Amino acid sequence: MFEEACMRGYNHCAVLHDLLSRDLASLIHPQHDPAVHRAGRVWVRGNGAMLTDADGKEYIDGLAGLWNVVLGHGRRELADAAREQMETLGYASGYAGSSNPRAVELAERLGQLTYPNINRFFFTSGGAEANETAIKVARSYWKLRGRPAKTKVISRELGYHGTTLAAMSATGIAGYWPQFEPRVPGFSHVAPLSADALEQAILREGPDTVAMFLAEPVIGVGGVIVPPDDYFPRIREICDRHDVLFAADEVITGFGRTGKWFGLEHWNVAPDIVQFAKAITSGYFPFGGVGVSDAIARSLDEAPGPWMHAYTYSAHPVGCAVALRTLQIIDEENLVAEAARKGALLIEALRSRLGDHPHVGEIRGKGLMCAVEFVKDRATKAPFAPEEQVGPRIHADAVARGLFSRVRGDTFVLAPPFVTPDKVLERISDILAAAARTVLPA
Ligand SMILES: Cc1ncc(COP(=O)(O)O)c(C=O)c1O
Repeated sequence: MFEEACMRGYNHCAVLHDLLSRDLASLIHPQHDPAVHRAGRVWVRGNGAMLTDADGKEYIDGLAGLWNVVLGHGRRELADAAREQMETLGYASGYAGSSNPRAVELAERLGQLTYPNINRFFFTSGGAEANETAIKVARSYWKLRGRPAKTKVISRELGYHGTTLAAMSATGIAGYWPQFEPRVPGFSHVAPLSADALEQAILREGPDTVAMFLAEPVIGVGGVIVPPDDYFPRIREICDRHDVLFAADEVITGFGRTGKWFGLEHWNVAPDIVQFAKAITSGYFPFGGVGVSDAIARSLDEAPGPWMHAYTYSAHPVGCAVALRTLQIIDEENLVAEAARKGALLIEALRSRLGDHPHVGEIRGKGLMCAVEFVKDRATKAPFAPEEQVGPRIHADAVARGLFSRVRGDTFVLAPPFVTPDKVLERISDILAAAARTVLPA
């Protein structure tokens, strides 16, 4: 097996080269790009906050996989939870008329953890499916309430909600659209941090036609954008005033990433619908879902016929078992508070090393998700020309130094596992500072 060959110290480069060329001949990747992939890495092993590639080189997993591996790699407890459930009941339908004990236990636990008005849950296999579900929940809710014209979805520029067709249409990063247009009709976007922009959009579209507003508490993929403290309280008030459901996409922020169990807790706001995925199984099993308010749950219960939304893998018993164990570990190891503490430490370490760099425009974050934005002019925040490829070059330099994460444009994003040791957080800051000094000498 390839992993064994690596362990025995075979010629890694040859093995890697062979594997990458077979990969290019046989796989299509998310964000497929053969040029990027030719210089790609093949991950063979993970331990805590560290990943090992086929060359046997170790990297810090600066983005916890894709923001999801909050408990770190190699957690035997999660493997045990999956194995035990697979041995007992590897799959069962979750369609009406069927259930399984782990799904019931998980929904009950989420009822305790999420917002007080949210006590009923539908499970999916990931984040985009959770957002599709939220959109369909909102539309069906208004139809059941006798307001069938309320179908439109307003979301935010720079928001990311996944790449299935409706989630892609809600996503406010325009690069995701052109290859797949036309987008789903009835979707529009507003400026990310202006509550007034939402109200204007609702009035422009007509409140009787708007079903929902969809937003991440802290924008993640779009570059870790933290709202001002009055933003979400005003959003809640505007949505209430116009009978618009507020759906919080907590696919990244759910389960502790921002230093609270759920992101909107920072501002004492509760949504009508909450979407989650990623951290709920620490990435060990594809899983997600939505929670809905008691009012929405009641309307579904009282509907005249069945609700025709369904996935084969809804409430997958193995996913539910891994999720339950993940939530238990987050609790036992006090990882929500740890994410808050480590996030503060990471931001502080980044500021101490990069705070006065002439090309650092901003260092920002909430909990253990943060970003360093590189700009041409620190005073005016003018960006570099895209051809300069500053972000990708800093990323490449950081990778060579043993830090693997992602950039969006010239913004370097960081969201390491909650279990990352303090000294590794310091090391992340050292590496990023060295990469910045190399690519952008002061
Ligand atoms: C906020 C947010 N919503 C939705 C998604 C889509 O999740 P998935 O890739 O599991 O479909 C992501 C993925 O990064 C995300 O960050």
